[in-house]
Amino acid sequence: MKKKLVALTGAGVSAESGIKTFRDSGGLWEEYDVMDVASIEGWRRNPQLVQQFYNVRRRELATVQPNKAHEILASLEKFFDVEIITQNVDNLHERAGSTNIVHLHGELTKARSSVNPNIVGEIGYRAIEHGEKAADGSILRPHIVWFGEAVPMIETAAKKMQQSDIVVIIGTSLNVYPAAGLVDYAPPGVPVYLIDPNEVNYHGRKINFIRKKASEGMEILFQTLVEQKK
Ligand code: APR
Repeated sequence: MKKKLVALTGAGVSAESGIKTFRDSGGLWEEYDVMDVASIEGWRRNPQLVQQFYNVRRRELATVQPNKAHEILASLEKFFDVEIITQNVDNLHERAGSTNIVHLHGELTKARSSVNPNIVGEIGYRAIEHGEKAADGSILRPHIVWFGEAVPMIETAAKKMQQSDIVVIIGTSLNVYPAAGLVDYAPPGVPVYLIDPNEVNYHGRKINFIRKKASEGMEILFQTLVEQKK
């Protein structure tokens, strides 16, 4: 029986693929006011600005590739029962070959009805046109969880964390709840590794801090978890 490895990832795991993080210097929230482009109030105030923000990011996603960190995480499925809980809306974990992925904050390549969240479908990397409608006649919106909206997958994610034997946190500032609180659902005694080149203000259980970028940190983790097991 393979041990369950639960990975909680954030924007930092995709940084080396060329996708901007949010709160680093040069991050997206330096360029845009998060409440204008990533909140339900912003959508109601100016849906066109929000649509454009995600159209740009969706088009950009078509031009980038998964990096070594995504690939190593996918390769760990040979040795562990890997569950990924990601805050990222990119599809780089999927494109690297990972198979069990929960997107807490939605998916850039999907769009949905702005009335019924169950009417959702793949749109790939294309723009959502101005005034484009969903199947129910409502305005088609990005399938993204905005600030001010519930996080439908949080219970699913918490249950997976409760079943973890190993936890790996990669590239998240742990600033945003409820995602940031998930680590506390891991059973006591479960080893937690955190990969980040910067200091992360996490004041919970003891963690094994690998102070490296995601790619290099995942190589170190692979050695620690797999090589030493042989
Ligand atoms: N490798 C690993 N980590 C990195 C790298 C890298 N190459 N570059 C930056 N980081 C780290 C930063 O040090 C930071 O801790 O990634 C983290 C990015 O933090 P944020 O920009 O806050 O991104 P994230 O934690 O994913 O944000 C959570 O906030 O705005 C919302 O919905 C949005 O999902 C997002 C959520």
